[in-house]
Order: sequence, then structure tokens, then C-alpha cells
Amino acid sequence: MTFQHFQQIAEPAIRPAYAWDFEIREETPADALAREVLLDSAMGPERRLKTSERLREGNRPAPGLALAARGSGGDLIGTLRLWPVFAGGDRSALLLGPLAVAEKARSMGVGGGLMREALKRAADGGHRAVLLVGDAPYYARFGFKQAYTRRLTLPGPVARDRFLGCELIPGALAGAHGLVRAAIIPSLYCETTRLAA
Ligand SMILES: CC(C)(COP(=O)(O)OP(=O)(O)OC[C@H]1O[C@@H](n2cnc3c(N)ncnc32)[C@H](O)[C@@H]1OP(=O)(O)O)[C@@H](O)C(=O)NCCC(=O)NCCS
Repeated sequence: MTFQHFQQIAEPAIRPAYAWDFEIREETPADALAREVLLDSAMGPERRLKTSERLREGNRPAPGLALAARGSGGDLIGTLRLWPVFAGGDRSALLLGPLAVAEKARSMGVGGGLMREALKRAADGGHRAVLLVGDAPYYARFGFKQAYTRRLTLPGPVARDRFLGCELIPGALAGAHGLVRAAIIPSLYCETTRLAA
């Protein structure tokens, strides 16, 4: 199922009745500390050892695709970022994650809201496909499947049934194979190169 199919068929059925008043906006630099605290609390500090972290370190989120959910009091209750990668060879894609929602705000549609907003922004921005490592029972509702990643590898160990993909454009992951690697955004690449010189 493509993301377009997902929008047409599945979205009305999964849209929750929002019991938690929240808004989703692009993250600002001032959110960084609260985001890291939220991620440590939701996933523990061992999150930094995950294979998908190897594709984020030294990289930057794709422009416009670092999202923050705020409660009515303005506090950060959810975070989701997408990162530029190559899905084997020079096939551009995004890596989604980490996604986390504050414990007090779970099961009220914040995670789903972040997912839908991120996928919509990615599709509107011309991105073609999204990869992630996560729980298939949660991400399947957004159109993610293991079938798209069968011939892709990550730079470290991963449980194959947690390595999922979603096509924003039909066929975007057809025949995808090889190593997924970070697509470092050029300005950061220049900074890194200058610092290393
Ligand atoms: C996963 C997470 C982001 C979901 O956020 P959320 O705001 O609670 O999500 P939503 O309200 O949109 O959806 C909640 C539904 O998803 C289900 N769900 C949550 N996590 C799930 C999982 N890992 N697998 C399957 N279903 C899951 C809930 O049971 C709930 O189902 P219900 O609507 O039938 O009650 C949140 O639970 C979280 O931050 N968990 C800790 C960090 C984490 O595991 N991140 C994802 C990495 S795989």
C-alpha cells in the first residue's frame, strides 16, 4: 500500500478523537534540550547505541522535517524527525525516527498526528520513500511494510521484521538493494570537512 492509498483508504478510519489538545510545528533550536530529555525518558540512554543512530550522527534532519508536538501549556509532548539517506546506491529516501511521545500524553493521537504530518510534509516536499526501524504493529497503520526493505541492509545489526519502508511515490523502493547510508546535507558536509582539515 502506498502513502497515497493510505491517505485515501486508511486515514479516516484511524483518525482518533483527540482527547489531548496539542499542536504540531517544526522544531526550533530552543526545543533541543526538552527533546533529548523526552527521548531519554521514552527510550533510555541506550537509544544512542541503535543501528539507526549511525545514520543520524553527523547528519541533520531533512529541511522542514524535524517536528515537535506541544501541549496546550506549550510543553514538548512529542518529537519526530526524518533524515536524508540513500536507500542503496544513489536512491534518495528518508529515515524516520526517533518517534516518542511523553508518557502522560500517550494513546491520544499525538504519535499518529506526528506520523501523518511528517509523511504529508515529506510527500509535499517531493521525497519519494521513507525507511524506519520500529514496531511493525504500530507503523503498519501508516503504510510501512517489511516487503520494501528485504534487499536493503543497515550499517549494523537490525531485526529484519523491524526494518520497514513506505513508498510516498508508487515504485520508489522497487528493486532497492544494498547498504543504506546517510546523505549528509552539503552545508554540514562543508563544516565537517573544514573542521577535520
Ligand atoms: C509509540 C508511541 C510513539 C506512540 O505514541 P502515541 O501518541 O501513544 O500513539 P497514538 O496515540 O497515535 O496511538 C496509540 C495506539 O498505538 C498503540 N501502540 C503504541 N505503541 C505500540 C507499539 N509499539 N506496537 C503496537 N501498537 C502500539 C497503542 O496501544 C494505541 O492503541 P489504541 O489506539 O488501540 O489504544 C509512544 O507509545 C512512545 O513514545 N513509546 C515509547 C517510544 C517508542 O517506542 N517509540 C517508537 C519506536 S518503535
